[in-house]
Amino acid sequence: MLQKKRLYIQEVATRDGFQNEKQFVDTDAKIALIDALSECGYAKIEVTSFTSPKAIPALRDAEAVMHGIARKPGVVYTVLVPNVRGAERALSCGVDEVNLVMSVSESHNRTNLRMTREQSFAQLRDVINVVHVVKSTPVAINVSLSTAMGCPMEGDIEKEEVLRWIQSFADLGVHGVTLCDTTGMAFPTQVGDLCRSARDAFRELELTLHFHNTRGMALANTLAALDAGIDRFDASLGGLGGCPYAPGATGNVCTEELVHMLELDGYDTNIDLGRALAASARLPALIGHDVPSQLLKAGRRLDLHPMPPTDTAPEQRAFTKEGA
Ligand code: COA
Ligand code: ZN
Repeated sequence: MLQKKRLYIQEVATRDGFQNEKQFVDTDAKIALIDALSECGYAKIEVTSFTSPKAIPALRDAEAVMHGIARKPGVVYTVLVPNVRGAERALSCGVDEVNLVMSVSESHNRTNLRMTREQSFAQLRDVINVVHVVKSTPVAINVSLSTAMGCPMEGDIEKEEVLRWIQSFADLGVHGVTLCDTTGMAFPTQVGDLCRSARDAFRELELTLHFHNTRGMALANTLAALDAGIDRFDASLGGLGGCPYAPGATGNVCTEELVHMLELDGYDTNIDLGRALAASARLPALIGHDVPSQLLKAGRRLDLHPMPPTDTAPEQRAFTKEGA
């Protein structure tokens, strides 16, 4: 039998999702959810972020969450870190990976991180130095490049510009780079072109694609990235997500919808979809509102419904009487 192609799914709901929620999710509820996610088969879980509690109050309990979860062997537990202070906090919790973030667009970087891209780069270089040299830890480093497929303030970002930033971080020895469509501006042919170029130029890097479904193109973009050789995707349970500093940036690609599609198409995502759906069903109670997931509402393609009894279905009777 043909070996199914293995894909790597990385859950971001408790970071990219919760950072944007008005209702604070209790620390114990976050821990219980992450523990449930650890049983779903993810390659990686982005647990939380070690940012300023004033900037992102929803994640002000990062240490408690990181210390409270039961870590399952084989799952990489990563956290978002904006600066050296964040890295030190993260390292004190024994994280497997730190995920550094900056935007490839100057305007978005200034809005989100309140500094120029060059200042961000210098700061992230310091973080990498602290993790790998000063503290000489084996902690992996990933860099997420926001607005890599369009900026809500500047518009298109040149592919060469994105590749230049990847190169700058590859030169610093990071192990992975995530290309983020922060505000759902990417479209399939653009994604295919960028992914092919990045894949060809940086064979040694773990490349992740991070789509938002702001304009309904996330699944189409995923197929384009797959076609270009990408095998690693961020996704958010229930379709939660957004960037507090990107207007209208709601909704990461929904994990259960992504997995449902990929498994139907014959890929091995390693995700237990039943468990992921059960975890997703817990979200509305935690955040106080409905989630975008279509799959949660409609069920899986072959979750069949019983046929209504013929003697209680008037439209069915009318149909039979006509003899059609
Ligand atoms: N952890 C905890 N506190 C931090 C911190 C960190 N990693 N980094 C900064 N702080 C605190 C400082 O101690 C300071 O606190 P004070 O006002 O009580 O003195 C305050 O935050 C401001 O610090 P400063 O160094 O002036 O940073 P800033 O105001 O320029 O903020 C960031 C820079 C990046 C730390 C902040 O904007 C941030 O965390 N943004 C969130 C970015 C993000 O996660 N966006 C969504 C993901 S894409
Ligand atoms: Zn995002």
